[in-house]
Amino acid sequence: MRGKNQEPGTPQVAPADEERTPELTPEAQIGALKEAHSLERARFASLLKISATLSSTLNQPRLLEVILDATNQLSRTGASSILLIDPQTNNLYFEATSNIAYGQIERLEVPLEGSIAGWVVQHRKPRIIEQVKDASEFTVSAKIDSLLTFSTDSVLAVPLMIKGRVIGVLEALNKQDRQPFTAEDVEALEAMATQAAVAIENARLFQQSDFISEMVHELRTPLMALVALSELLTRPDLPADQRDEFAQTIQREAKRLSEMTSSFLELSRLESGRVKLKYEQIDLLGIIRQTITVQRQQATERGINIEVDLPAELPPMMGDADRIKQVLLNLISNAIKYNRPNGTISVSAEYKDETAQVCVQDSGRGIPSDAVKNLFKRFYRVPDTEGYTAGTGLGLSIAQRIVQQHGGRIWVESELEKGSCFCFALPLEAAGRPEPLRLDEHL
Ligand SMILES: Nc1ncnc2c1ncn2[C@@H]1O[C@H](COP(=O)(O)OP(=O)(O)O)[C@@H](O)[C@H]1O
Ligand SMILES: [Mg+2]
Repeated sequence: MRGKNQEPGTPQVAPADEERTPELTPEAQIGALKEAHSLERARFASLLKISATLSSTLNQPRLLEVILDATNQLSRTGASSILLIDPQTNNLYFEATSNIAYGQIERLEVPLEGSIAGWVVQHRKPRIIEQVKDASEFTVSAKIDSLLTFSTDSVLAVPLMIKGRVIGVLEALNKQDRQPFTAEDVEALEAMATQAAVAIENARLFQQSDFISEMVHELRTPLMALVALSELLTRPDLPADQRDEFAQTIQREAKRLSEMTSSFLELSRLESGRVKLKYEQIDLLGIIRQTITVQRQQATERGINIEVDLPAELPPMMGDADRIKQVLLNLISNAIKYNRPNGTISVSAEYKDETAQVCVQDSGRGIPSDAVKNLFKRFYRVPDTEGYTAGTGLGLSIAQRIVQQHGGRIWVESELEKGSCFCFALPLEAAGRPEPLRLDEHL
C-alpha cells in the first residue's frame, strides 16, 4: 500500500493572472514560466504550445478537449476531468471528461462536501490523493467511481482560478505506471490551469456576447416599428381605416416580440447546456398523435389536411417527451405556415438504422437550395419569408438543439414549389445519450 495521502508541500498561492494572460508575448511567457518553475524541457515546451492553443480557441467544446488532452499529457495520466461551478447554484458539476464513461458523467452534480473537487474549491489549493479508496473523507468520490464503473487510483486536482475566484477544478486521474504524482506535476498542472481558466471564461463570454448582440439586433426592428406606429396613431387627422391597420400591425409586432423573447430564452438555456433532459421511457407514436391533434384545427382553417402514416408500434425508447413534442410542434407548425392553401402534410414514423425516424412532409413553397445550409441557424429566415408570414427564425434552431441533446440528428430535403420534408432520427437506446446520473439518489 502506498503512503499517506498528502497535500503538496507548499501549495502555490494563485499567481497574479496578469502574469500569464494570453496578451503576453511568448518571450515574456517563457521568462515568467522559467522563473516560476523548474520544469524539464519537454514539458516546458508542450506547456507553451498548449498555452498558445488555449488562448486562441474560443470554441468551447474544442477548448475543453484541448485542456483534457493537455492535462493527460502534462501529468502523464490516463484520464482527466473538468468540473465547473454553476454560478446559479454554486454547485460543482462535471463539464467534460476524457477516457471516462463519456456522456454518463456530463452535468453530474458533485457536492462540495465529501468530494476531492469540493475540497479543492473550498481550500483553493491543489490536492494529491494517492489512493482514493483509502481516503475515507471522500465518500462522494468513491460513489462516483462505483456509479461509472470507473476505477480511480490516484488523483491530482488543481483549482481553476481567475483573479482569485475559483471557477472550477481540473482533475488528472491515474498516473501512468501507478507512479506517485510529483511536485513538478503539480506545478505543470497549475500553470496549465491558470491558462485554461482564462480560456474557459473567454469562451463563455464570447458565446454570451455573440448571442446578446444578435438578440438586440433582432429586437430592434420590431421595436422601432412599434415606436413609429404608436406615434402615428396619436395623430388626430388619421383616417379610421389607417388607424385600424396600424393598431393591427402593432398587435402583430408586439406578439412577435413576445414570442421572440421567450424563444430566445429557451434557446439560450439550451445552448448553455444547462438544461437537463428528463430521460424516461417514451411513447413516440402517442406524442406524434397528440401533437397532430393540437395542430389540426390550425391546419383545417387553412384547408390543409394532415395525413398520418404510423407503424402499429415502435421499439421501446428513451427520451424527453415534452422536448420531443416541442420539436414536432415546430416542424408541423412550419409545415402549416409555409404550405399553400388547401395543401397537404404527411407525418410518418418508422424504425430505421436503429433509430426512430420521424418525417414531416409538406406540399408548400419549398426552400431554395442555397438557403438550406442556413436553415438551422438562429434567427435565419429564408429571404422572402418576412413578407409571407410572421416568425422569429428560432424554431428550427431550438428543434435542432433538442434533437442533438438526445444524440440524434435533424435534416431537410426540399424542392422549390413542390414542398419540403423535415426529418429527425433519435437513438432508441439510452446508450446513445444516457440519462444523466443523479448522485443524490445514490448517496
Ligand atoms: N416547411 C417549410 N417550408 C418552407 N420553408 C420553411 C419550412 N420550415 C421552415 N422554413 C424556412 O426556415 C425558416 C426558419 O424556420 P424557423 O426556425 O421555424 O423560424 P420561423 O418559422 O419562426 O420563421 C423560416 O423562416 C422559413 O423561411
Ligand atoms: Mg417556425
